[in-house]
Order: sequence, then structure tokens, then C-alpha cells
Amino acid sequence: MKALILAGGKGTRLRPITFSMAKQLVPVANKPVIEYGIESIVHAGIRDFGIIVGDTAKEVEGALGDGSRWGARFTYIPQPEPLGLAHAVATARGYLAEDDFIMYLGDNLIKTDVAEFVREFERHRPAAMILLTPVPNPSEFGVAEMEGDRVVRLEEKPKHPKSNLALVGVYLFDRRIHQSIETLKPSWRGEYEITDAIQGLIERGLEVRSHVVRGWWKDTGTVDAMLEANRLLLEDIEPSIQGSVDGSSRIEGRVSLGEGTVVEGSTVRGPVAIGRNCVIRDSYIGPFTAIADNTQVIGTEIENSIVLQDSKLARVPSRIEGSLLGRGVSGSSEGRVPRSLRIVMGDSSSLSLP
Ligand code: TTP
Repeated sequence: MKALILAGGKGTRLRPITFSMAKQLVPVANKPVIEYGIESIVHAGIRDFGIIVGDTAKEVEGALGDGSRWGARFTYIPQPEPLGLAHAVATARGYLAEDDFIMYLGDNLIKTDVAEFVREFERHRPAAMILLTPVPNPSEFGVAEMEGDRVVRLEEKPKHPKSNLALVGVYLFDRRIHQSIETLKPSWRGEYEITDAIQGLIERGLEVRSHVVRGWWKDTGTVDAMLEANRLLLEDIEPSIQGSVDGSSRIEGRVSLGEGTVVEGSTVRGPVAIGRNCVIRDSYIGPFTAIADNTQVIGTEIENSIVLQDSKLARVPSRIEGSLLGRGVSGSSEGRVPRSLRIVMGDSSSLSLP
């Protein structure tokens, strides 16, 4: 079996972050989101990966390399335009050849190890296997209509959903999916939908197996979902203090502190992950915060946020909450400002308060 990871797309919902970086590379709990999926697939014993890339191809390739870090082989497949998930599969047709494959959306996170699904697929050999999970807002997802255990219809972002079971961004297919894709027409939103291709399998009388996943799943395509994924992953973080903490600082709860990081005169209340070579001085780092490498936080309070690498937050007098700050961001202030701030800042932005 091969893996097909989708790391193209437009990322409009995650602007301004995606103006300058691939959303699949945004770190959650200090690790690029796409790496969680890669690790889980490698753990299932799969080594051949096709990676669909778009405008951010160079950056994705630069960050992930040839796969040898995971003992895998990565082949990058440029998708000229992000015309939909089924279009991505069609773009990879030559690479996939006649093999079975697991398709994984590069900005999705799933708690369960995918090995379980791969084994189930191999045992039953359906034409496709989809994963489902109950959601409160099915209109925002692909939704499955069921009769008992059987999937009878799939619909992409339905206005009147027939169930609350959303399709998780992990699918398993055998070669029969390609025939369904060949005859697809673009949907009302102009995309070649994988849900329509799977619907084609059902209409040909082929087996589409479904599996309702236990444990959480997150599509990190929005800031709120990204922050929630960050919270879920930080909850399981392994405490480890590799940097130095001075006598006037307090570390509470589960905290991971990278090499070369210095904490002085500060309180860090976990779960928190702080990367390498950071300076945390006279600050409060509250629960569910992930701070990436080479960042300085000085005289600032922050919680429930993600800060990307090389940023500098100095004497921001309002507590930063529920925020996503891009790479090389700077924040500072000289006077009176509101009591808390909720911000999304793209790379290299700066915020100075009066
Ligand atoms: P989406 O998040 O559905 O689409 P998008 O990236 O265009 O984002 P937005 O809706 O905010 O504009 O895509 C899911 C994953 O699949 C994501 O990792 C991007 C990837 N993708 C492709 O590689 N090719 C495509 O044609 C599309 C639509 C998505």
C-alpha cells in the first residue's frame, strides 16, 4: 500500500498565516501538523509516499525532505491548480499505478493510529474505506447518509445534512476509485469532490466500508481548530526540562522546555511546550501555549496560543489569549491598552500598542 498526502490547496480560511507559509507546516504542540500524519502512516508499515504540493511546494519539500528521516521514500507531485481532492488523486494517477493507497489530508489530525484502519481495509478489501465521526456542524463537512452500517449516500457540505456523521480526512482506496474519478464533473463549488467519486463506487454496487472513529479528529484549516488541536496535543505532552530555569521562576504541571531555552523570573503553567533557544523573562506562560524555537517573551502574559519561531514579544501589557502568531512576529507596547488581546498575525508582522 502507498500513501498519498495532500499538502496543496489554497488555505484561504487560515489567512494571513497562509499568505507566507503552507498551513500543513504550522506547528501544533511545536511539531508541523503534517508530521503527525506521516508518523502514523509510517507506523502502519507504509514507506512509499506521494505528496501532493501546490504553490507552497518548495517550502513543503524543504521542510520534509526525501522521507529518509522517517525511513520512507517521498515523491513530490505538483498539482497545477487546487481543483479538489479527487483532482489531487487524478494528478497522482501515474504515481499510484494499480496500488491500494491511504489518502491523508495534510492539515488533518487524528488521535487514533491509522494502522488499525489499514489492517481493517486489508482484511475486508472493500473498494473504499471511509472514516466517520459525529460533529455538531455537519454542513461544513462531507456527510454520510447511513442505512444501518451501510453508507448509502455521501454529500459534500450539504445544506440539509442527512446525519451528523462527517468524513474524517483519511480514506483508503483500491484502484477502482480511478474509474469513478475519470467521469467526475465539478461540483457546485467548482471542485472535483472525492465524496462524488466515492458515491460513484456505491452506485456501481461496490463496497464502501465505514468506520466511526473513537478519539478526536481535527481539520486544522481554521485558527480556532488549530488552537483546539494544539490544546488536545498538549494535554498528552511528555514533561521534559532541557533548558535552564532560575530560582525565581515556577514551572507548574506538564511543561516541555527545549535545549538552550532560559526561563527567568517567570511562571510557566502547563500544559505548555517551549522550543529551543528561547528566552522567557519576567513573563507568564499559561496553559495550552506552544512557543516555537528562537522566540523571546519578555514582560508578557500569554496563554492558549501558538507562537511560531523567531518571534519577539516584549512588554505587551495585555494578556495574549487564543492567538496564532506567525514567524518573526514582534509585539511591544509603551502605554495603556485593553486587558487582553486576541490576534492572528502573519509572518514578519509587528504590533505596537500605544
Ligand atoms: P481544504 O482545507 O479542504 O482546502 P484548502 O487547502 O484549499 O483550504 P481553504 O478551504 O481554507 O481555502 O483541503 C484539505 C487538504 O487537502 C489540505 O491539506 C490541502 C489539500 N488540498 C490539495 O492538496 N489539493 C486540492 O486541490 C485541495 C482542494 C486541497
